[in-house]
Amino acid sequence: MASIAFYGIKPWGQEHLKKRLKGHKLFFHEEHIGQDHPPVEKDIDILSVFVGSDVTAEVIEGLPKLKFIATRSTGFDHIDLKACEKRGIVVSNVPSYGENTVAEYAFALILVLSRRIYDAYEQVREEGDFSYDNLQGFDLMGKTLGVIGTGRIGKHTARIGKGFDMEVLAYDVFQDKKFARKEKIKYVSLEKLLKESDIVSLHVPYMKGTHHLIDKAKMAMMKDGAYLINTSRGAVVDTQALVGALKSGRLAGAGLDVFEEEEAVQDEASFLSAKDTTEHDLRNVIADHILVDMPNVVVTPHNAFNTKEALERILDTTVSNIEKFLKKKPQNIVN
Ligand code: NAI
Repeated sequence: MASIAFYGIKPWGQEHLKKRLKGHKLFFHEEHIGQDHPPVEKDIDILSVFVGSDVTAEVIEGLPKLKFIATRSTGFDHIDLKACEKRGIVVSNVPSYGENTVAEYAFALILVLSRRIYDAYEQVREEGDFSYDNLQGFDLMGKTLGVIGTGRIGKHTARIGKGFDMEVLAYDVFQDKKFARKEKIKYVSLEKLLKESDIVSLHVPYMKGTHHLIDKAKMAMMKDGAYLINTSRGAVVDTQALVGALKSGRLAGAGLDVFEEEEAVQDEASFLSAKDTTEHDLRNVIADHILVDMPNVVVTPHNAFNTKEALERILDTTVSNIEKFLKKKPQNIVN
């Protein structure tokens, strides 16, 4: 029998897990954990978190018996893997619960911007105004979609783009030539993709090599009036530079499901009192607020994964990750 603590888990998810993990000592918390919200139970063997948690070296230090972390997400940049390695803690993720789920959401953001769906909705609902004079959008057919990162989600996004009769350009450090031939997409350099795409959609993981992958210089390469869609991780984009590019009109708009310091914006009181808050972090939070208020920007609360089907797939894979670890046959290991 293992002691397993789940954080950031809603009541329906708790019920699902209770049925699937009978015989183990289970602890559930709706809150996330982090340096300022350390785990409640200290003697656990297994920890399961979602992206709102920040599993730092200090958090790990406070869990002396911890052997396994099962993150219920694809990304694992919220876990200090070096600290895990030092302690021999195995970390697993859920590699493929939502390639369609996230790609569909990227297109939801694209369509909100291209067809002014939010403006139309607000005009009708708030003003009872049914005129379409100020709601002109643009076609996706014939436009160029640039997909950065053609892993599971990026590939699905590219396929949906082809479904809209878009030209699709792709950039990845590993090119899947077979996929490109089959789907009639073209791998190009990052510079060429940025220069030629009307809409750029980001699907790379967050890591050292992708930190501010889209910075001020890259934004300057983008086509005049292009749109940027980010459903990957906030820090892949330099938020302060994005504000500048949108304000100057270089970029026409952005659809952001993720942004730098999103946890801070969600809980500003804790952010303000945190010991390690830097001036740079504060500037990013201000930039986030500016983005939220801009009429040509759609910001959503890291919601792309959030469908019934995807959440069930997440929990099923997490249970399987835990069971396999306990049988000494760990799967979906990321460290
Ligand atoms: P994946 O691992 O299948 O694909 C990532 C691709 O990015 C790979 O093909 C890899 O070669 C490429 N890549 C890595 N570094 C690169 C670089 N420097 N330049 C260009 N390409 C690079 O990952 P998947 O499943 O497609 O997910 C992508 C990301 O989407 C996740 O890491 C996660 O951060 C994010 N995500 C966001 C969600 C949300 O709710 N907003 C939900 C699920 C994932």
